[in-house]
Amino acid sequence: MTRRIPIRLIEKLEVGHPSIDAEHRDLLALVEGFRNQLEEDADSESLVLAIGEIIEYTRRHFANEEALMDECGYPEMARHVRIHRELLEKAAAQQEKVRQSRLINIEPIKLYSFLVDWFIRHVVEEDRKLADYLKNAN
Ligand SMILES: [Fe+2]
Ligand SMILES: [Fe+2]
Repeated sequence: MTRRIPIRLIEKLEVGHPSIDAEHRDLLALVEGFRNQLEEDADSESLVLAIGEIIEYTRRHFANEEALMDECGYPEMARHVRIHRELLEKAAAQQEKVRQSRLINIEPIKLYSFLVDWFIRHVVEEDRKLADYLKNAN
């Protein structure tokens, strides 16, 4: 099984905006919950439900970030929003793969790694920039 997300890394990923950081922590907790289900050999139906929860929470989180961007006239909003959309599309496609897959141990693990890698890169490259902009705008 792939590595767990270390607490130290979660702390390093803080961007300094209370609601964004709180939502990121919740999102990581959902992703870790999904991982726990994988370790407990959950059936594919439960995994599909767990992925659905992650997608729903992510959608709300993205909408909240986008509202913050909109409020402060964030100049990189269009690009950031596009990256959000692409992730939601990919996650939905992956969910479908898990739904159809007989190799239920392989696709979900790939999805877990994909989500964690995506999340880390996105926070470091995009959300941190947004949080810095919000700090200066207020
Ligand atoms: Fe975010
Ligand atoms: Fe974002």
